[in-house]
Amino acid sequence: MAYRIAPSILSADFARLGEEVDNVLKSGADIVHFDVMDNHYVPNLTIGPLVCEALRKHGVTAPIDVHLMVKPVDRIIPDFAKAGATYITFHPEASEHIDRTIGLIREAGCKPGLVFNPATPLDALEWTLDKLDMVLLMSVNPGFGGQKFIPHVLDKARKVRQMIEERGLEVSLEIDGGVGPANIMEVARAGVDTFVAGSAVFGAGKDSDPQRYNSIIAALRAELAKV
Ligand code: DX5
Ligand code: ZN
Repeated sequence: MAYRIAPSILSADFARLGEEVDNVLKSGADIVHFDVMDNHYVPNLTIGPLVCEALRKHGVTAPIDVHLMVKPVDRIIPDFAKAGATYITFHPEASEHIDRTIGLIREAGCKPGLVFNPATPLDALEWTLDKLDMVLLMSVNPGFGGQKFIPHVLDKARKVRQMIEERGLEVSLEIDGGVGPANIMEVARAGVDTFVAGSAVFGAGKDSDPQRYNSIIAALRAELAKV
């Protein structure tokens, strides 16, 4: 399986965001995970399309994985598409019409994904999986970086991987929250192929070192090589 590492910029130094993203990509990260919070669906407030556009203008060409923790969802989709989003994922309970929202993301030229909180059942996948490019399983409750991994999500991951295989689809399975070198291998063994890591990546190394992310990304890859 081709594994992808997606650092969450939620834990980056926002005053130097372009440089932070450049450094983490130069260190071998594959995807930029972009957490959008609205202080309504989740109790925190972060960044919007302007910042996504700024990263593209800065020269970031890697996929940008926009994780919408906002309610309602639909209004903001075209703005993120224009701003250069690659993936747009949303929480099914934040949309009145899940199938319509998936269609809006696809029509806007982006890759749609559904996100499931730790206690949210996978029911919404039954009639949507074949329309998705990504399923994102939250292994913490959304809203903040630096929380502890919730282990029962591994069972959920096995279930989603099985659904993807049974239906012969090429949907990517991503996990978000509390992932680091200590658990990435067991997460991969549960069928996950794309790994969000915020505090584990951006908390690594010394501020002044432009290569500060090399060893943490290498450590994550070394664990994945053991799968
Ligand atoms: C939480 C966000 C995550 C967060 C992960 O709501 O969706 O992407 O940044 O942070 P860590 O890896 O520190 O748990
Ligand atoms: Zn996220």
